[in-house]
Order: sequence, then C-alpha cells, then structure tokens
Amino acid sequence: MLHVESIKKIYAGYSNVYDVIFKQFFYPRQRHVIGTMNISPGDKVLDVGVGTGLSLPLYPSSCNVMGIDLSAEMLKKAKKKIDKYKLTHIDLMEMDASNLQFDDNTFDHVIATFVISVVPDPVKVIAEMKRVCKKTGKIVIVNHFQSSNKFVAKIEEFINPICCKIGWRSDLSLDELASNADLEINHKYKLKKFDLWKVVFAVNNKPC
Ligand SMILES: C[S@@+](CC[C@H](N)C(=O)[O-])C[C@H]1O[C@@H](n2cnc3c(N)ncnc32)[C@H](O)[C@@H]1O
Repeated sequence: MLHVESIKKIYAGYSNVYDVIFKQFFYPRQRHVIGTMNISPGDKVLDVGVGTGLSLPLYPSSCNVMGIDLSAEMLKKAKKKIDKYKLTHIDLMEMDASNLQFDDNTFDHVIATFVISVVPDPVKVIAEMKRVCKKTGKIVIVNHFQSSNKFVAKIEEFINPICCKIGWRSDLSLDELASNADLEINHKYKLKKFDLWKVVFAVNNKPC
C-alpha cells in the first residue's frame, strides 16, 4: 500500500537523481502527449504531480500552466527549471492531488504523467481532476497499467509490494480505474508495441 508520508519520503529521496534515472523513459512520452493535446493560446493547464518539472519546458509559452506536487523537494527541482528556462507562464504549488485547492471548472487541460499509480487513492485524484477541469476540457493520463496478459498481470501483482516500497504500484488496472472513477476514455494507446506505459485521453463527462 502507498501512503502519503511514505510517498513524500521516497520522492524526496529521488529528487536529486530523478531526472538522471527517469528522463530517458518519461520525457519522450511527455513530449508526445503535450504535443498532441492541442493546447491553444490562453489555455489553462494543470500538471498534476509535476515532480521535477521534466514536462515544463514542453508547454507552449502562450498557455498558463500550474504544476502541483506533494513533494517540496521535487518541486524545488521544478522551480530550478522554471528559472533556468525563464518559464514565466508556469507556477508551482505544493498540494495533494486528492484535495486540489482550485475552484471547479478552472482548467482547460488536466494532465497527470506517471502519477496515477503513485497516489494512494487514484479514484479520488481522478474525481478531483474532473472537478477542476472544465466540462469541455481534456483529461490526459500517461501511466503504467496492469497488463491484459494474465501471466504478466500475475507477475505485476506478485511484485506489487516491492514496487510500493520504491514508490509506485504495478497492479493498477485501467479498466477498473475507469469504471470506479467514471472516467470516459475516448482514446488509449501505447507509443510502441511493447511499451510499459499507456497514453489515455479522456473526456470530462461530468454533469456540469
Ligand atoms: C513518478 S513521479 C512523476 C513526476 C512527473 N509527472 C513526471 O512525469 O516526471 C510521481 C510524482 O507524483 C507526486 N505525487 C505522489 N502522490 C501525490 C499526491 N497525492 N499529490 C500530488 N503529487 C503526488 C510525487 O511526489 C512525484 O513527484
């Protein structure tokens, strides 16, 4: 099981080495997805669990981006990128994704890359993402989900306790999550045939 306090500790530990370890895997997928989101000038984007801000230089300077994260140490690295690349259109806040401090219908796009299997309560986080996203807005998730291959899925369940100790779960099922969170997926795919991560585009199917 993942807990907020253990996640904070684990990601404080990762913050100095995160980019060196993960950029090679995560950055190409962020580049693809942000390039596919059709962000228009003036759009408001929420990057949930922004981490060290790997994605931040990828956003067009004509939009406004808010990045939130639970980990102050990860955010410090993101702040350094904002300063280094003079990303004046981006702000950061320390915040729990399961309790977002924004009004309903604030953002045109809400994106979470490599986050949804890190949070203790992904259904609550998606409910919050939907709440703060405009009804006409887009919700985008990039994440590892449990394999549809039964043998691989069993292995993912078996290794899950170890994965949780290093900061994520390996057994999150996209179908179960979509059903429990009432997430209306309109497009999901992998960038390569055998990829660990899926790209998920969802419509914000909330009533108002
Ligand atoms: C694997 S990193 C991904 C970071 C970034 N999105 C990226 O693609 O590089 C997961 C991030 O989620 C953050 N996180 C975990 N639980 C969170 C929560 N409940 N609220 C906000 N951020 C959270 C962690 O602190 C960490 O920075």
